[in-house]
Amino acid sequence: MERRVRRHSAVRGDVALPGDKSISHRAAILNSLANGTAKVTNYAPGADCASTLSCLRALGVKIEAVSAETPTIAIQGVGVMGFAEPAVVLDAGNSGTTMRLLTGLLAGQALFAVITGDASLCSRPMGRVIHPLRLMGGRIYGRNRDTLAPLAIKGQELHGLDYTLPVASAQIKSAVLIAGLFTVQKGRTTVREPVLSRDHTERMLQAMGVRVTSEGPVATLAPPVSPPKAIDVHVPGDISSAACWLVLGAIHPNARVSIKGTGVNPTRTGIIDVLLKMGARLNVENEQVINNEPVADLVVESSELTAVDIGGDLVPRLIDEVPVLAVAACLARGTTVIKDAAELRVKETDRIAFLVAELSKMGANVEELPDGIIIKGGGKLNGAKCSSHGDHRMAMALGVAGAVADGETLIEDAEVVDISYPGFWQELERLTAHLAEGGQK
Ligand code: S3P
Repeated sequence: MERRVRRHSAVRGDVALPGDKSISHRAAILNSLANGTAKVTNYAPGADCASTLSCLRALGVKIEAVSAETPTIAIQGVGVMGFAEPAVVLDAGNSGTTMRLLTGLLAGQALFAVITGDASLCSRPMGRVIHPLRLMGGRIYGRNRDTLAPLAIKGQELHGLDYTLPVASAQIKSAVLIAGLFTVQKGRTTVREPVLSRDHTERMLQAMGVRVTSEGPVATLAPPVSPPKAIDVHVPGDISSAACWLVLGAIHPNARVSIKGTGVNPTRTGIIDVLLKMGARLNVENEQVINNEPVADLVVESSELTAVDIGGDLVPRLIDEVPVLAVAACLARGTTVIKDAAELRVKETDRIAFLVAELSKMGANVEELPDGIIIKGGGKLNGAKCSSHGDHRMAMALGVAGAVADGETLIEDAEVVDISYPGFWQELERLTAHLAEGGQK
């Protein structure tokens, strides 16, 4: 599907976000490991979190959709060792989180399973999850000398591990911690990261009564490991989805957008910190804590942005928001340098290469670095024919770029937003339901 986007005279309205994708995956997986039933409200509506549910169902977990409106599911946990051997190949679709977290779960079950995904997921690095799980005693094999999916997993008895991750990754940390739940009395499981990545797994396990301690970038599951207790979870709005409206609100000359109930876990709020540093008129209001996760309302208005440098410890706190931040940088005064972000090359696509390719088509002054991008801002963007390359975050970033560009932008493979934000295009239309500049509707 192609989508045409142009600049409208205003961007205004209130946004109700889809549930956070990372927290939704964890609410489903960790409650499946519990004994008892849990209700998850505002479960993320995108295809990635649906992949997690279909894999869990194939592993014998009963999950019911209770209401579609504010997507609510009821999960009947099977207990730590209660998963059934799947009769089919598990399909994680496009979702790295599904594949990596479930590999941690499957490594410790008394069963055999194969997990695969789409072409993008089957080209993403899996050696990074296989390696620590093997050190725990797991038997996991994959294509290309055990580095790529499909993965075949023969569950084993596992033992604890003290593991230092070469690159900060919440997916790998979570896979190891989940595997740690099966080690019972056999030592502790510690994961050390170079920089703390999103800590939703640690927070949810703590809320479920599991003894997980976190000290900076070090998370430890200490024996005796207690099984997680089922808990109802209300999933906050996804800050990675909010990022689109935060950037659009800041760069459009006539904008005010208010976003209720956004997850503002400090391991995810790099986007807010950077926009504030760039001079955005952005307010964080009504902060509260729900299910051990901070939540707040965000209000953004048209702003004059200036360039910033993005690198170091900040990068894991905004890694998924780089595509849309790059659009903000194109419009900001000065030169933005994004570095230490080589991980962008192994996301759903090589986001460094494709951002440079697509934003260049729109007239942006962008230069590729091995681990980032240099963006000379201050100019304007021109409508162009662009492609998402099948990457949901690229599609949304290009949608935001198109909504401030001169002329029309055509985005190919635009339906891919369904991976994380099925209502994205409708929401963009609603917020910009004012005359397009030049008079077109
Ligand atoms: C995620 C972790 C991050 C992020 C991804 C979701 C998670 O990936 O980019 O979109 O839910 O744990 P890495 O763990 O590979 O850094």
